Amino acid sequence: MTADPIELAARDLAVVWHPCTQMHDHSFLPMVPIARAQGAWLHGHDGRRYLDAVASWWTCLLGHRHPRIVAALKDQLDRLDHVMLAGFTHAPAIELAEELVRIAPPPATGGAPLRRVFYADNGSSAIEVALKLSFHYWRNLGQHARTRFIALTGSYHGETLGALAVTDVALYRETYAPLLLQPIFAPSPDAWDAAPGESAAACAARRLGELRAILQRHAHEVCAVVVEPLVQCAGGMRMHDASYLGGLRALCDEFQVHLVADEIAVGFGRTGTLFACEQGGVAPDFLCLSKGLTGGTLALAAVLTHEQVYQAFYAEHASGKAFLHSHSYTGNPLACRAALATLAVLREEPVLERNRALAAHLQARLAPLRAHPQVGEVRQTGMIAAIELVRDRATRAPFPARERRGLRVYRHGLDRGVVLRPLGNVVYFMPPYCITPDEIDFMVEVACEGIALALR
Ligand SMILES: Cc1ncc(COP(=O)(O)O)c(C=O)c1O
Repeated sequence: MTADPIELAARDLAVVWHPCTQMHDHSFLPMVPIARAQGAWLHGHDGRRYLDAVASWWTCLLGHRHPRIVAALKDQLDRLDHVMLAGFTHAPAIELAEELVRIAPPPATGGAPLRRVFYADNGSSAIEVALKLSFHYWRNLGQHARTRFIALTGSYHGETLGALAVTDVALYRETYAPLLLQPIFAPSPDAWDAAPGESAAACAARRLGELRAILQRHAHEVCAVVVEPLVQCAGGMRMHDASYLGGLRALCDEFQVHLVADEIAVGFGRTGTLFACEQGGVAPDFLCLSKGLTGGTLALAAVLTHEQVYQAFYAEHASGKAFLHSHSYTGNPLACRAALATLAVLREEPVLERNRALAAHLQARLAPLRAHPQVGEVRQTGMIAAIELVRDRATRAPFPARERRGLRVYRHGLDRGVVLRPLGNVVYFMPPYCITPDEIDFMVEVACEGIALALR
């Protein structure tokens, strides 16, 4: 294949339809052909390099082409490429399930140990699995009235129809609304919405009170509450107090509905603990994992659940209770080996400890922005940091979406060699864990320049 970046971009635009993109934008925005990647950097065919400040949509956990993951994949490719997981199994799928069950968030103050693993092949399909499992569980118990889900305002769970139904980001959901399940949206504990003088914990407690009222009215028809623990990522990196999780677990138990924790974006150390649920001391009934699971190399997802759910499906074939959901690449051996290598690095190397130091460095570098008259908030949870741009700091009035201020930050980032992909007016960082303090300094410097340009 040619290495000429201009020719590659032209050929791309002639045939490839890109995700999450108005293709017309590429009449003025350059398409960037990437030739290779290493660590925190993407290398373009144009000889330029780009710091991957968003870890390629939050997948690339440890850095690109981590040597242990590359070695595991090469080894696996020489043994077994793929086999369907129905009727057949293989060591990588078994070992990965054993490891996931071992490291799953323990039910310190609520929930049950997660002991069963159902594989899927991307984040959205993991959500579909969790929704279907929860619905089907209640049906297997004879509770046919339970057909609804509770989701939080501002949530994002993916773009297949089930996952999109429990998503509350208008940009993605609105067009398809006539096709979607109708969940009940409960107010998010998002600390951005705290009343003046109200702490994040008090805001979370108030939102739990509102959720209680919803459950009092609707629990009989609800299968599960679906939540992104600690950070609502695609909804604008909005963050909430960890106390919400314990309160949510208690409400789910009290009203006998499932808790689905979507840790697709926040799992595997992103928020400072291996899983975000740990900070609330809870185990959900369904834990959805994907993205960083394979260190950003291959598509894989896993849904973990506990024994009570598994047993509700376990019966003679004639009972019709089986969960017949399937994807062709379920539990792909290559993806499972990549995941095992990723988890080995997290287990054997002081990754979380290093992340704490990196997160503190990032926080210090972002501190000056807190006083900026058009920065509504600088917020951070572990290795996720976000800067919310506003027209007026006092009123927090947002910039109109049509002004596309974030796009200016994106363009400046590309010019300077940093991949920043703001979510509307929210500039954020979710870098690979291999990023160095110097690279953080560069990333923040370029973001600050981009913000200055965007606010002109
Ligand atoms: C919290 C969360 N859930 C689900 C998804 C969907 O994952 P995928 O894009 O792999 O379908 C995403 C993707 O960004 C996500 O952030």
